[in-house]
Amino acid sequence: MSSFGGITAVVTGGAQGIGRAIADRFAADGANVIVGDLRNPGDLGARQRWVELDVTSEDSAGALATEVGGSLGVLVNNAGIMFEASIAAQTVEQWDMAMAVNLRGPWLMTKALLPALRADGGGAVVNVGSIEGIGANPLHTAYSASKGGVHGLTAAMAVDLGPLGIRCNAVAPGWIDTALNRTYLDRLPNRDQALAELAVLHPVGHIGDPADVASTVAFLAGPDARFVSGQVVVVDGARTTKLSLPPSLAPEA
Ligand SMILES: NC(=O)c1ccc[n+]([C@@H]2O[C@H](COP(=O)([O-])OP(=O)(O)OC[C@H]3O[C@@H](n4cnc5c(N)ncnc54)[C@H](O)[C@@H]3O)[C@@H](O)[C@H]2O)c1
Repeated sequence: MSSFGGITAVVTGGAQGIGRAIADRFAADGANVIVGDLRNPGDLGARQRWVELDVTSEDSAGALATEVGGSLGVLVNNAGIMFEASIAAQTVEQWDMAMAVNLRGPWLMTKALLPALRADGGGAVVNVGSIEGIGANPLHTAYSASKGGVHGLTAAMAVDLGPLGIRCNAVAPGWIDTALNRTYLDRLPNRDQALAELAVLHPVGHIGDPADVASTVAFLAGPDARFVSGQVVVVDGARTTKLSLPPSLAPEA
């Protein structure tokens, strides 16, 4: 039997992008996957079903918990939003929405699903943070603050929920080749140059795939990580490990 055979896994924001790859990975590994998303993805594979979910809503989180029923093996808090705005231009509503989806969402979903996660001796939670919870790109005050919060929340959840048999970890993805990022690059007049420059930023020589994040999530949620809790695992091809040097000090390639 594969590593997640017979368990139920919930993946929030699983209709597309990284969440979709995570849902596909758990289904391929034998889990029954509930894709909780605002949007119906329409074309889910075997052992996956969509349940309408708004992670900002207590009622919606409660309704999803009812769908899950008695026991939940894995919760992946992946749903997230991002926008770019200076502090001067940003509205309070934008800030609050980023926090409601990215930070309160994982907390609210964990709270709603706690009884199911406790059943059968305990489950695992994996939150999707970001390298922007460690550093920041320009115009991302709300996004970076929310993702830093997700990393702190992960530590606090691991401490509080460990005694209940629930492990909590996070992944912090770097630049991942999602439809959103591809559309962004496609809009640039110098797309190929931007891609080449992105590759240089990464010591491994390329950006990441959603499946790279999914495999790390699967490890953290699975039995091989039974003694791993409270960690934030960076999945960025060593981009944030590489210290920047001024061009005049950089060694020849
Ligand atoms: N793409 C990257 O390079 C990257 C890098 C680091 C971290 N991340 C994080 O990974 C996660 C997924 O990113 P992505 O690029 O796949 O995003 P995406 O925009 O492609 O997908 C996000 C999904 O979340 C859903 N969603 C949004 N708000 C929701 C809500 N209130 N309730 C339920 N579902 C909601 C959307 O409908 C969508 O299906 C996010 O948390 C993001 O911050 C992404």
